[in-house]
Amino acid sequence: MFAIMEKELLAPGIHRLEVLAPLVASKAKAGNFVMVRVHSGGERIPFTIAGNNPKAGTIMLVVQEAGKSTKAIGALQAGDTLLDVVGPLGTPTHIEPVKSLVGVCGGIGVAPTLPLLKAFRAKGTEIVTIMGARNKDLFILRDEVEAVSDEVIYVTDDGSFGAQGLVTDALTQLLEEGRKFDQAIAIGPARMMQATCKVTEYYGVPTIVSLNAIMVDGTGMCGACRVTVGGETKFTCVEGPDFDGHKVDFEELILRQAFYREEERGGENCQCHSS
Ligand SMILES: Cc1cc2nc3c(=O)[nH]c(=O)nc-3n(C[C@H](O)[C@H](O)[C@H](O)COP(=O)(O)OP(=O)(O)OC[C@H]3O[C@@H](n4cnc5c(N)ncnc54)[C@H](O)[C@@H]3O)c2cc1C
Ligand code: FES
Repeated sequence: MFAIMEKELLAPGIHRLEVLAPLVASKAKAGNFVMVRVHSGGERIPFTIAGNNPKAGTIMLVVQEAGKSTKAIGALQAGDTLLDVVGPLGTPTHIEPVKSLVGVCGGIGVAPTLPLLKAFRAKGTEIVTIMGARNKDLFILRDEVEAVSDEVIYVTDDGSFGAQGLVTDALTQLLEEGRKFDQAIAIGPARMMQATCKVTEYYGVPTIVSLNAIMVDGTGMCGACRVTVGGETKFTCVEGPDFDGHKVDFEELILRQAFYREEERGGENCQCHSS
């Protein structure tokens, strides 16, 4: 059992949890994730390790209520427990010391972006972060991102905070103004990462993405999370979740994300709980 030490509502339906998991906390690196089970009959759910405090033995998870399992976590309180927290999983991000970086994150994508920004910052990288959300109430972890960035640019779909527009508009503007970046990170919904990668490819900026493929076991056994990167099949849970965004087949990723919708709804064709 893994105790929830703290819980905070960051935005409607988005929670920050500090979970006591000393072994995971002591080994976690930027880019790692955990597989969580709430109770014995529940599915395994992947969450990025958004932060770790080895001294306190805690990891930070940011959970957006999307369906049954994440809503169950949303209903828990500090003092409650999670049945399993398995990790750290995945391949840590390769942090190449670079002079300048632009981080582009949308919605809940801020959570996986934050540890990468911290890791690059620790190497002395100058960081500009572009954060996008549908409206001003949906921004999360602003203080944390501002603490590790030299500049933060906010954009909203409805113009309620920062500039009105998409993260790709803000990114294109920076690059058109002649700003130079040695590296980009793009994390958010698949379409947002795809669009960002189109921009960075055009301007020749290498780009790391974190793929939110559907995962079942999280340990390379089931093949559910396979993606195509540079024409090769990769298992996101062991070889990712971070990849070279210019090589990812996003159309296939998006198709595969929809592949298990029937199972997620627990519909009549669902075979995921049949054994
Ligand atoms: C490496 C990785 C890191 C992630 N980190 C975070 C995070 O830090 N915070 C966060 O809120 N979410 C994160 N996610 C997404 C999160 O795992 C899903 O939102 C969650 O599994 C939804 O489960 P559900 O039962 O609540 O919703 P469901 O109704 O089952 O699904 C809602 C949507 O979530 C996605 N999803 C469902 N099951 C899975 C699964 N097993 N694996 C991946 N995606 C799934 C699908 O897009 C689906 O349409 C991450 C996903 C991956 C792959
Ligand atoms: S989730 Fe099963 S192989 Fe990756």
